[in-house]
Amino acid sequence: MTLRGRNLLAIGDLTDDELEELLALAGRFAAGLGDGASFRHLLDNRIVCTAFFEPSTRTRLSFEAAAHRLGAQVIGFADASTTSGRKGETLEDTGRILSGYADLIVTRHFDAGAAVRMATGALCPVVNAGDGAGEHPTQTLVDLFTLRSSLGPLAGRRVAVVGDLRYGRTVHSLVPALRRAGARIAAVPAPGLELPENLAQGVEETTMEEAAATCDALYVTRVQKERFPEGEAGAASLLHVNRALLERTRSKAIILHPLPRVDELSTDLDILPAAKYFDQAQNGVAVRMAILVALLGAPA
Ligand code: NCD
Repeated sequence: MTLRGRNLLAIGDLTDDELEELLALAGRFAAGLGDGASFRHLLDNRIVCTAFFEPSTRTRLSFEAAAHRLGAQVIGFADASTTSGRKGETLEDTGRILSGYADLIVTRHFDAGAAVRMATGALCPVVNAGDGAGEHPTQTLVDLFTLRSSLGPLAGRRVAVVGDLRYGRTVHSLVPALRRAGARIAAVPAPGLELPENLAQGVEETTMEEAAATCDALYVTRVQKERFPEGEAGAASLLHVNRALLERTRSKAIILHPLPRVDELSTDLDILPAAKYFDQAQNGVAVRMAILVALLGAPA
């Protein structure tokens, strides 16, 4: 695989072929997760470092679970107040140092561009697990895997991105990937939280009702209040996806959400077959196993 030794910092780092290879490998891991015998030692003697400067539940723990399932050891931190960043160490230096301890670094940070800076210093692959309002490419692979598991090929499918399209990094990585897959993209932004201009081309803005009635998938996101500039009040979403909306619009859409949800996605959806967000979170393990194996170059 050509991904060996490379960084994964943005979804655009992957060619179409590489993306397909990763999703196929993830499919193999997902199918074999029950016994795991064939891949339990793929990453023996490797060390994965999770360097998380910002809160995370799914991304960090699914990466760590993925590493453990492949036989790798994990080091890292989830509370950056305990690290030398507090003493003024640069991200470039932190990257260099961590790459002396580990074979691959997975990092999350509150600043866009932070993973690139860490990769500049590091001598091993760096994976961007979310950089501020920048990108979240591994989530996009999870999203594509989940969408395709239900819908098959995405060409010609209509997918709506809903919620905080301005600060939501999962959307910033997903939109270009959907475009490349030939999907039609609709946008239902929360007020004032429209897609950045560089991503909006060819994306059609619509209403929640119209999207629910006509789209194949709704990708719902929470308002990223923590990214609002100081002094700017974080607007409530005003967008609520619930069972009444789906019934009123006779929706056939599947529902995804990178989670965590706040109030934009009702729990009354959870038992519906259309609700795919818990599967999506679960898929994180197999997809991240594929990423680790590809970047570390283990035979699979
Ligand atoms: C997302 C993130 O951190 O960007 N969560 C995740 O990784 N599943 C979405 C969010 O925080 O809203």
